[in-house]
Amino acid sequence: MNDDFIVQDARVRIVLDSRGNKTIEADIILPYSTGTCSAPAGASTGETEAQAFPKKGVEESVRIFNSTIRKKIIGVNALNQRNFDGLLREIDGSDNFSNIGGNLATALSLALAKAAAGSLGIPLYRYAGGFLKGDIPKPMGNVIGGGKHTKNGTTIQEFLVSTQGKTMLECISLNAEIHKRIGIRLRERFKNQSIGVGDERAWTASISDEEAIDLVKEVSKEVEKESGVKVLLGVDFAASSFFEGKKYVYRRGSLSRDEQIDYACSFSKSHGFYFIEDPMDEHDFEGFAEITRKVGDRSVIVGDDLYTTNAERIARGIEMKATNAVLIKVNQIGTLSDTWKAVRTASEAGWKNTISHRSGETTDDFIAHLGIAFRSQFIKTGTIGGERLAKLNELIRIEEEL
Ligand code: PGA
Ligand code: ZN
Repeated sequence: MNDDFIVQDARVRIVLDSRGNKTIEADIILPYSTGTCSAPAGASTGETEAQAFPKKGVEESVRIFNSTIRKKIIGVNALNQRNFDGLLREIDGSDNFSNIGGNLATALSLALAKAAAGSLGIPLYRYAGGFLKGDIPKPMGNVIGGGKHTKNGTTIQEFLVSTQGKTMLECISLNAEIHKRIGIRLRERFKNQSIGVGDERAWTASISDEEAIDLVKEVSKEVEKESGVKVLLGVDFAASSFFEGKKYVYRRGSLSRDEQIDYACSFSKSHGFYFIEDPMDEHDFEGFAEITRKVGDRSVIVGDDLYTTNAERIARGIEMKATNAVLIKVNQIGTLSDTWKAVRTASEAGWKNTISHRSGETTDDFIAHLGIAFRSQFIKTGTIGGERLAKLNELIRIEEEL
């Protein structure tokens, strides 16, 4: 074994995320490089995702790390990611990292991969994805938002756009332009009121979901016409967050399960939305399947809370033809190896994947690298804001290298 890749030491610390909440950052120290990673946190979390922190909170993750985990990972071979990730699971002993915290596992797992890549002298996207040349994922950004990311915004969590420019710079500039123009329209509409942004920097205002659809369509068309660049529209219902027992509760009234299926399909059929995420409650695989049957030929139907980056749940979705695509978030499952397993399971079924930020982000740019490594169709990470641009601007640099 080459001693250059033996873990010499590891450290963790508490840092803040974009919501001002505490999260974990980890360092893995090899003889010739150190890998550092900080883990993000969600707000509209899936029921089956890893628990971000132990019951006693983020400080407990640090305490457990210092008392037991640190000495167990010193001496490990950093090139054996699967072994390291397995060790984290073994130390935790639960099936959802409820003992050590999914964010500690995520930060350590990715810090190890970054350290190994650093020692090899290659970027993370090459280390995690091999040397194959894949397409760079197209940025998909949230321009109007609500749900659990705001108070009093739309019921639907995210209205998204993805401009299909030739270069990363063109894509992210046009996405930001659409965001900017929507802000101007909202200011005109709410003349004597202030409007705000949600956790992911999408605009939020007390408008209905229908008004949001119209506004996104209108501004996207305008920018598409002026630039000559195609704009794909997306929506993340995050439907579990407004499913109450039997009904989908919107501000204007409730929809039954069948009505919700029709409503979701209308986004594809009547409004031309290409990307449709979590249109049904996370337990309703069958409801997802009905939507995929009806509009899956023209839209990507994406499972986020439905799958929580869990290969077993994705396999069930494949068997039931529940969706034709999957959202990928490392800290939903807790390790890089398990994330790879989820991506591989989806890819082998011919499904597309979208790598995604969380609503509470750090300035870490690992999803930019993983989006390349995983051959993601899209990277969902907002349109503006430092913690979102950390990823988008990194993709500009990677594009230059490729
Ligand atoms: P999050 O949600 O708040 O759990 O990060 C983002 C999403 O639903 O895609
Ligand atoms: Zn989602």
